[in-house]
Amino acid sequence: MRIDVLTLFPAMLDGFLSESMLGRAREAKLLEINVRNTRDWATDKHKTTDDRPFGGGAGMVMKCEPIFAAIEELQTPGCRRIYLTPDGVPFTSAKAEQLAKERHLIFLSGHYEGVDQRIRDTIIDEEISIGDYVLTNGTLAAAVVIDALARFIPGVLGEEKSLTTESFTRNLLDFPNYTRPAVFRGMSVPEVLLKGHHGEIEKWRHAKQLEKTALVRPDLLKKQP
Ligand code: ADE
Repeated sequence: MRIDVLTLFPAMLDGFLSESMLGRAREAKLLEINVRNTRDWATDKHKTTDDRPFGGGAGMVMKCEPIFAAIEELQTPGCRRIYLTPDGVPFTSAKAEQLAKERHLIFLSGHYEGVDQRIRDTIIDEEISIGDYVLTNGTLAAAVVIDALARFIPGVLGEEKSLTTESFTRNLLDFPNYTRPAVFRGMSVPEVLLKGHHGEIEKWRHAKQLEKTALVRPDLLKKQP
């Protein structure tokens, strides 16, 4: 899969894209990620990417010209062009899984008071929010979406199995995990995990998932099949 990220702050993604799972996925050519500076498509001598809003008001708005030029240069037939914005559609694990099947994604991260509406109306295919809070710009939001979708690309996760048992794939939160030692500062690992009876362990884990989900995310229980 190819991903292009358009941002005014490319350095924000440097460490994130070269570390851990994503770093390895890129080295293994499972993922090609290009971070591009929107400013490179500004044509005036000050490399302007924003301007005052028509109608007045606080803040600045990102201009059409550089963003149209950038997307028109980067896009390929069938690619999906995604704008990260707090007034977008809430991001979910299901969306991550769906995006992981695409061949080419372009992420546009906004700044200031957002981008000129004509960009959203014509050269953006979908708008995603990563939560009900406002970040200083959409670059970290793009990083979050990329990280979550990369886990659904075959080969990116070491253990494919970890996808099937974890949170959200079945609208349940995770069960508690323990590792050695069996007793730490007087705190023991639950008996059932030490006995090695697989059926019992599965039952216990499922019960813990239901308990945790009911406590923290009762809304998810309503989505149970
Ligand atoms: N840009 C600023 N805040 C954001 C959010 N919550 N989600 C996506 N993009 C954003």
